[in-house]
Amino acid sequence: MKALILSGGRGTRLRPLTHTMAKQLVPVANQPILGYVMKHLQEAGIKDAGVIVAPQTQNEVRNYLKDGSLWNISITYIVQDEPLGLAHAVKTARDFLGEDDFVMYLGDNLLGTGIKDAIQRFKKEGYHCMIFLKEVSDPRAFGVAELDAQGNIVRLVEKPKVPPSNLALVGVYIFSPVVHEAIEKITPSWRGELEITDAIQVLIDSGYRVKGEILDSWWLDTGKKDDFLAANTTVLDEYTVRKIDGDVDQESTIEGRVQIEAGATILRSTIRGPVVIGKNAVIDNSFIGPFSSIGTGSKIKDSVVEHVVILEDSIVEGVVRLEDSLIGRNATVKKSKSLRGALRLMVGDHSRVEI
Ligand code: TTP
Repeated sequence: MKALILSGGRGTRLRPLTHTMAKQLVPVANQPILGYVMKHLQEAGIKDAGVIVAPQTQNEVRNYLKDGSLWNISITYIVQDEPLGLAHAVKTARDFLGEDDFVMYLGDNLLGTGIKDAIQRFKKEGYHCMIFLKEVSDPRAFGVAELDAQGNIVRLVEKPKVPPSNLALVGVYIFSPVVHEAIEKITPSWRGELEITDAIQVLIDSGYRVKGEILDSWWLDTGKKDDFLAANTTVLDEYTVRKIDGDVDQESTIEGRVQIEAGATILRSTIRGPVVIGKNAVIDNSFIGPFSSIGTGSKIKDSVVEHVVILEDSIVEGVVRLEDSLIGRNATVKKSKSLRGALRLMVGDHSRVEI
């Protein structure tokens, strides 16, 4: 079993951040999303992964994953010149995939559970394709499955205006090589993409064994700011343990599950978990409330923040208060003393906001 990790795409819904970084590298609880993907693949015993990259962001993806040895997975990079759809990505990786079964994992998706058991079931049952489904409140933004009374998949539709069910396709798929024939038969959809849902529909219509499994853990698609903050909240809630390696002065209080990395400094502040604070960050005379991730080297001074993701080397100063916000790298947010009320922001890398 090989893996195909999709780390190309445009990331338009997460602009402005994705103007300057690959969306799969935006950190959740201070770890790039791709790191979680690699961990799941490693746990599932995958040794050989192809990584689809876009020309614009391939260097940072390569810099992060390198040769994959950190996860004991050998990586082959495959450049997709244009993001022409998930099935197009599979087509681009045709030589790498050969005649092997493979798991396709969208590099911006996070699952609360690993995929080891699913891969074993796929092999044991001899399925041709396995997809994962999750109930969502508004399925219109996803691929959606229609099931018959026995629970078999009858039809898949991409981003339907009138969804046939509330079961969305999760961004992990397991395929046997028959999918390549199916992809040869499809044509671009109205949005100009070769849709993987169309290829799976061809498999269903040709009588191949397509299994849909309802995912019983959480699943997060980090495509937009609010989804991204929700992902950060869930991951912090699930994984944060209290671990204080940085320096905390006598006047500070650390409450609950707070992770403070080495080299970080906490002065005259209160931190209420779950929170992660990256290396060399400085928190000075501030309150850091639950579900916040403060990136490496960032500085929070004279501020109250809660439910925020602040990436590396940014400054938040004099802001009372900042919430539900996503702040890029090397950004500065400063507030004048006269302004009251909470701020809700999405600020790209290298930006400066004074209010
Ligand atoms: P999407 O989120 O569907 O696409 P996108 O990244 O272009 O985002 P947006 O809609 O905000 O512009 O893609 C899911 C994942 O698959 C994501 O990690 C990017 C990747 N991808 C590719 O690698 N190649 C492709 O052709 C497409 C469409 C997506």
